[in-house]
Amino acid sequence: MIINLRSDTQTLPTESMLRAITSAPLGDDVFGEDPTVRKLEDMAARMLGKEAGLLVVSGTMGNLVSLMAHSNRGDEVILDPDSHIFYHETGSLAAIAGLMPMPVRSREGMLDPDDVAAAIRSPNVHYPRPRILCLENTHNRSGGRILPLDLHKRLCAIAHERGLKVHLDGARIFNAQVASGIPASEWAREADSVMFCLSKGLSCPIGSVVVGDAEFIERARRFRKQIGGGMRQAGVIAACGIVALETMIDRLAEDHINAKLLAQGLADIAGLKVDPDKVETNMVYAEHSATGLSTEELLTRLKEQGVLASGSPPNRIRFVTHRHIDRSAVEEAICRIKRAVEGA
Ligand SMILES: Cc1ncc(COP(=O)(O)O)c(C=O)c1O
Repeated sequence: MIINLRSDTQTLPTESMLRAITSAPLGDDVFGEDPTVRKLEDMAARMLGKEAGLLVVSGTMGNLVSLMAHSNRGDEVILDPDSHIFYHETGSLAAIAGLMPMPVRSREGMLDPDDVAAAIRSPNVHYPRPRILCLENTHNRSGGRILPLDLHKRLCAIAHERGLKVHLDGARIFNAQVASGIPASEWAREADSVMFCLSKGLSCPIGSVVVGDAEFIERARRFRKQIGGGMRQAGVIAACGIVALETMIDRLAEDHINAKLLAQGLADIAGLKVDPDKVETNMVYAEHSATGLSTEELLTRLKEQGVLASGSPPNRIRFVTHRHIDRSAVEEAICRIKRAVEGA
């Protein structure tokens, strides 16, 4: 049996999601006439304490239309070079939105408020206009770390004092909610817009939702159409999203327990460096320099043992727990990963 720890995006829709698709009332969502999409958008907005929501195809699309809706071409976006938007979204903020990134490096996902304040330029005819601060919670490249609420509030306050909007890439904000006990709406309250994904740990086959005030969502809706993201009977996607929001959030706690267990097992394997104390949600990064293998070589060995992971070259491998990985799969994965590394 293959143990697939590549990502929580690998989860398949549940039986209830597939049933919900067959009974969902549908309409043409570009005309605003799909009742199931409307229901999901309203539900998402309510859960995060915002006025309105917008269903989009992916997290990448949700981040892009949010940035476009907050800005004009040539404006500047302050963000962590280790953020998903900067690192993994094919440069869409520059290529499509015409925005200028101003990278401010975080320490393991934690931006320093002083660094952010220093990066916000004062008005000057030579400069782009600083317009948006992007935050990410949980923070993917730091291993699913949770941005503490007090730090989040300080960062938002600095941005707002200087006239910037705050966009929160909350692809896994419900992982942060479940792990911390803090409602996602507490983080959302301080941000002007939030994107979260339905198709990661929540197990939907497709979809993300953007929430914000009504005017922002209308702008984002127009940009979604402009980039080809207007969908017709999208209730088939939204039906799964409704099931996810109603039934799939609390179970993320299991993924977190399994990730911790995995981290503890990997920490005992010679050649891998893993700090279980830093595993707060469903991701585990293992630093593998001491194995003497390249990331690609190690991924190949893992695959030979029937374990799929993803690489973060030059020296890290990422494992993500999700609904299809139970405790026994984690225990088996630890044995196979040990064999793969010891074959070195
Ligand atoms: C933090 C974060 N933001 C955004 C995304 C983008 O989501 P999608 O793959 O649906 O475009 C991801 C995907 O892994 C992510 O981890």
